[in-house]
Amino acid sequence: MSESYFVPGRVNLIGEHTDYNEGLALPFALHLGVTIDLTTRNDEQTWIEFEGGSRARVDACDSMEQSVQMASAVFRRSPRRGIDLRVSSTLPTGAGLSSSAAYIGALALALGVRGTLLTMARFVQACEADVGSDVGLLDQIATLGASAQAASLIDFSELAVSHHPLPPSWRFTVVHSEVQRQLAHSGYADRRSECRAIYELVGSWSNLNLTSLNRLPSPLQQRARHIVTENQRVRDFVAAMAADHIITAGQILTESHASLRDDFEVSLPAVDTLIDTIAVVPGVRGARLIGGGFGGCVLVLHEPNTEVAIPGHRSWSVEPSEGALGRITTN
Ligand code: GLA
Repeated sequence: MSESYFVPGRVNLIGEHTDYNEGLALPFALHLGVTIDLTTRNDEQTWIEFEGGSRARVDACDSMEQSVQMASAVFRRSPRRGIDLRVSSTLPTGAGLSSSAAYIGALALALGVRGTLLTMARFVQACEADVGSDVGLLDQIATLGASAQAASLIDFSELAVSHHPLPPSWRFTVVHSEVQRQLAHSGYADRRSECRAIYELVGSWSNLNLTSLNRLPSPLQQRARHIVTENQRVRDFVAAMAADHIITAGQILTESHASLRDDFEVSLPAVDTLIDTIAVVPGVRGARLIGGGFGGCVLVLHEPNTEVAIPGHRSWSVEPSEGALGRITTN
C-alpha cells in the first residue's frame, strides 16, 4: 500500500515573536512544502529515505543527523509501525518558512497521527521540543490549518483563528538572505527566556502597554516594546487589507522590520542590507524579515508587474495555499 502526505511551509505577513507571548500573527501557507510518500513493509521496522538516496532507521535511531532525530521523535509519539518513508521537499530549510513544522507535520500524518487542528499543532510542537527547538504555535497552526484564499489571523491568547482575504492586486515575494539559521542554535531561545522574564515581572501580557513597559529594565523594555507594537501592527495590517491600502500595509511591514532589528534584535546586517536594496525597487511597498530571525527570508509586498529579483538571492512569488488538514479532507 502507498500513501502520500504534503504539508506546506508558511509566510507570516506580520506578528513576529508574538506567538509565545499570547499575541497576534497573520500567516498564510505556501505552495512550497514537504511531501512524505510511504509504503508499508512486511516487518515492524520503519525506515526513512531522503532526496539524494541516504537512508536511516527511525525505530532504532543512532544517527546524529537532525532530520533523522526529528523523524525518530515523531515515531516515538506515533501509532504506526512497519513502513518506509520517503521525503521530498520544495521548501528551503532554515529559511524562516517553517520547514521544520512542515517536515514534522508530514511525518506525523504519515505515521498515523490524527486530531483537531490544535491537537495536531501541539503534537508537532512537542516533537520540535524533543529535538531542542522550544517554539511557539505559529508555524504548526499555519501549515496545518491555513485557508487557500486568505491569511489566517491567529490570536494566541485564546488560540482562535479567523481567515481574512487579501486584496487581489497585492503581490508577495519571498527573498532568501542566503544566511542559513537553525532555531535550536540561534538567539531564539534567549528571546524566549527574556520574554518569560517580562511575563514574570508584569504578571500578564495584557498588563503591558507603551507606558507601563517603561518600568522594565533594559533590554526587557525593548523586547516588550516590540511585542506591544507588533500586536498593534497586526491589527493595523488587517485593517489595511480590508481597506485595500497597500501603501499603509507596506509601511507597517517596514516598521515591523525596524522593530525586529532595533528592539527585538533578531536581524543581521546582511538581512538589513538586503531590505535596503529591495526597498528601492520600483513598485515595492514594504519588506521585513520573517520567521525566527538571525538569517532566513525577507517578505516583500509589492504591486503587480513588479519583479523582485536580487542577484545572488533565491526568490519565490507566493500566495495563499491550503493548509495540510484541508488538503487531506478534500483529497
Ligand atoms: C519561528 C518559530 C515560531 C515563531 C517565529 C517567530 O518560526 O517556530 O513559533 O516564534 O519563529 O514569530
